[in-house]
Amino acid sequence: MTIPASRPITANADPALLRAYRGIFWDRVLLLKRLESYHPDIVINTFGKRELVLINRPEYIHEVFVEQADKFHKGEQFKIYTRPLLGNGLLLSEDEVHKRNRKLVAPAFVHRRIRDYAKVMSDYTLRAMSQWQDGDVIDISREMMRITLGITGKTLFNTDLSEEADDVKRRLTYLMNYAEQQLRIPIHIPFEWHTPRNNRVRKEIAGLDKIIYGMISERRNSKTDAGDLLSMLLLARDEDDGSGMTDKQVRDEAMTIFLAGHETTANATAWMWYLLAKNPEIFKKLQDELVVLGGKAPTLDDLPRLPYTLQIFKEAMRLYPPAYIIVRTAISDCLIDGYLIKKNAAIIISPYLLHRKAEFFPDPEKFDPDRFSPENEKMIPRHAYLPFGGGARVCIGNQFALIEGHLMTATIAQKFSFELLDSTLVEMEPLITLRPKGGIRVRLLEVK
Ligand code: HEM
Repeated sequence: MTIPASRPITANADPALLRAYRGIFWDRVLLLKRLESYHPDIVINTFGKRELVLINRPEYIHEVFVEQADKFHKGEQFKIYTRPLLGNGLLLSEDEVHKRNRKLVAPAFVHRRIRDYAKVMSDYTLRAMSQWQDGDVIDISREMMRITLGITGKTLFNTDLSEEADDVKRRLTYLMNYAEQQLRIPIHIPFEWHTPRNNRVRKEIAGLDKIIYGMISERRNSKTDAGDLLSMLLLARDEDDGSGMTDKQVRDEAMTIFLAGHETTANATAWMWYLLAKNPEIFKKLQDELVVLGGKAPTLDDLPRLPYTLQIFKEAMRLYPPAYIIVRTAISDCLIDGYLIKKNAAIIISPYLLHRKAEFFPDPEKFDPDRFSPENEKMIPRHAYLPFGGGARVCIGNQFALIEGHLMTATIAQKFSFELLDSTLVEMEPLITLRPKGGIRVRLLEVK
């Protein structure tokens, strides 16, 4: 194929951009905004030896996620730092391996299964709330993390992780911090090198492996379906040759689900409470909707009667999408609307930027859950709202997450409102996910 001349939009020589590039290690949102300032739809730029391409228009994103998906792999940087922990699980695998494993893992997320998980979601939310008292000051983002970590542990391994919980949490936190620190520093130290830091990472992973392989072997021996995700992974069979997953594959998928499943939902709900605390009239409207429950804690069957609650959760993920950037690497040259994207280019798709385009979301900074009313939601163009990504690699846990967010919101808002303690703006900490920097301190106000 002859590739027509591209029309690259570069901004290489701009000192302001070079300054913003330093932000890749401390403020990625700033860098994204700076890139977007050159062109609203596509920016092709050279960063070091590689081309960096910001794709910022739904039709172009459709090309990357769907039409030309076979020309893109996951981002290299992310793979380097997370491979030791996530192995070849769904987040990192490619092509045929990904396709096969996605099919094997999918049954764990069917609606019938999520019914059982919904009970866990309510129980863990109620359990956390039982420790909350009117007037208490809490860090709501920490609380959300505690709840979603408990939910993920229980739905994945049917265990409270009570004995190992602290150990698992400590190790995972260390490993997440490691990956984040690596993303902040310009010099990459290969994982194969035996530096004290790398040795410690190996030690933490070995500790996690011991716990997870222990659970896998126990479950294989008992041959029971414990109703959790782990059982589903162990029961999964390839429809062509009947083969299942090896222990290593189950371990990689379990670790992937564990990591992908809790921090994202925790951040989404934390930002949502922040937005609600800043918009008491919307909080009030939410609580008015919950009156239909008659004081009873919500269950999965109640959710269809609570549409506004879900709209709030979706709108919060518009303004603060936990996965604020989705990265790909071009594995061959390709053309997107006549623009030449060269092999090895790093492709950046940013739900954060996209969700704030006035073209699709008028008055974009305004927190307005009515954007997701059934009539309005239909009008949002495909791939203009991307909290869960898109195409064949769309988040496999998206239904799980929507039910989790919906149930947690209804359960908590039925009993409590929150007052922000610090009137200042909570800053974003855009690392692997979009965290609220320093947490979100609120005073609990019990609904009388
Ligand atoms: C609000 C919560 C969540 C958000 C915002 C979110 C976001 C995303 C996004 C954007 C991707 C695509 C990444 C890419 O294309 O590079 C993804 C993939 C994935 N997510 Fe989620 N996620 C959430 C919750 C969950 C939950 C609850 C689970 C599991 C219990 C989960 C498991 C996964 C897995 C395994 C993948 C990889 C899928 C694949 O490549 O086939 N996520 N998620």
